[in-house]
Amino acid sequence: MNRGKLGTMLRASERDDESYLTFVEGTRIFAGTLDPQLREAAGAAITRYQRRTGHLPRTTEEAKRALDPVPIVASRNRIMRSTQEMMWERVIETYTKRRDELLAELDAADRSTVGSVEWDPNFQYPAYFSKVEFHIQPGSYYADPLAGYIYHYGTKVFFLGQNDRDDIQTRFVNRVPTPPDGQVNRVLDVACSIGQSTTALKQRFVQAEVWGIDAAAPMVRYAHKRAVDLGLPIHFRQALAEQLPFPNNHFDLVYSYILFHELPRDVIPTVLDEMRRVTRPGGIVAIVDFQSLGEALPPLAAYFYEFSRRYNGEPYAAEFITLDFTGMMRDAGLRNVREIPTGQGFSGLPLRVGEK
Ligand SMILES: C[S@@+](CC[C@H](N)C(=O)[O-])C[C@H]1O[C@@H](n2cnc3c(N)ncnc32)[C@H](O)[C@@H]1O
Repeated sequence: MNRGKLGTMLRASERDDESYLTFVEGTRIFAGTLDPQLREAAGAAITRYQRRTGHLPRTTEEAKRALDPVPIVASRNRIMRSTQEMMWERVIETYTKRRDELLAELDAADRSTVGSVEWDPNFQYPAYFSKVEFHIQPGSYYADPLAGYIYHYGTKVFFLGQNDRDDIQTRFVNRVPTPPDGQVNRVLDVACSIGQSTTALKQRFVQAEVWGIDAAAPMVRYAHKRAVDLGLPIHFRQALAEQLPFPNNHFDLVYSYILFHELPRDVIPTVLDEMRRVTRPGGIVAIVDFQSLGEALPPLAAYFYEFSRRYNGEPYAAEFITLDFTGMMRDAGLRNVREIPTGQGFSGLPLRVGEK
């Protein structure tokens, strides 16, 4: 049953599970190849809607009226929802076959002296977090002690096999500018999840003391276990981004990768304030997240974010993309806020950087 590693994650317990999950991943790759035809058909449907009504779809409901009947759009929706369900079901099944062994592995890692991990079995999760099954992962980030293992394989499928060695997190981390004075002694990764950016930060800033915090206990426990396996001494701690358990001016670099679109709008300013608070004068706050598309969303974007909200456990992302997030970083008191060009596809999200 222990079939070793696939990149930095644990292989499925049986070959049958792995080939099933490879099929699911392949089906999602196939769905991606439909994109050009989908965009053409969606564009034509929007034009027809405009001819019929005298205006473009102005609301999400209108976008749904225009696009729901388009067969290729409906097929894509069905593929995305069904493959997501198939993926979680099989990943949970495959790791459940080794449940006791994996739980013991987490307990052993908790006691490891390579780095550290702190978590609280009685942690109070805020309702905006605990009531959502993000990405429709059963139990979301926090309810199953094996959620870290499960999430890791789930994101492997989501990233279509392009992230088996944390390639995407590493690419972003390597683009983050250092503070103007070049000093990087302490680094914080906010909402580190399973620690893929955190290990990339430690690999880049070898001498620095590196911390990762996340709300979910299973995430920080698995992140620590993974870092121990990689021989990287990193400190992980269960904590909320809106109450960072660190003194003022503590870190040279405070980083976060794809947290903010998973937060309600009213929590965002508090988290930005906290990130700025724990950054030292002259230090850097660097954040990767979705692009801002403005309040008047293009109909196709409105449609797909609504699909993600209803069918893929993304309740806050549709509002996030309407916000001027770069402006919110300025409002939080950061200086010289700018967007740094990144790559294409999964690596193409904006990297926004500011200084304290
Ligand atoms: C998409 S994952 C982040 C991915 C991760 N940063 C990486 O480098 O791969 C979002 C994470 O945010 C965490 N999270 C959500 N709300 C949070 C909060 N208020 N405070 C801390 N962590 C939070 C979740 O538990 C989850 O692990």
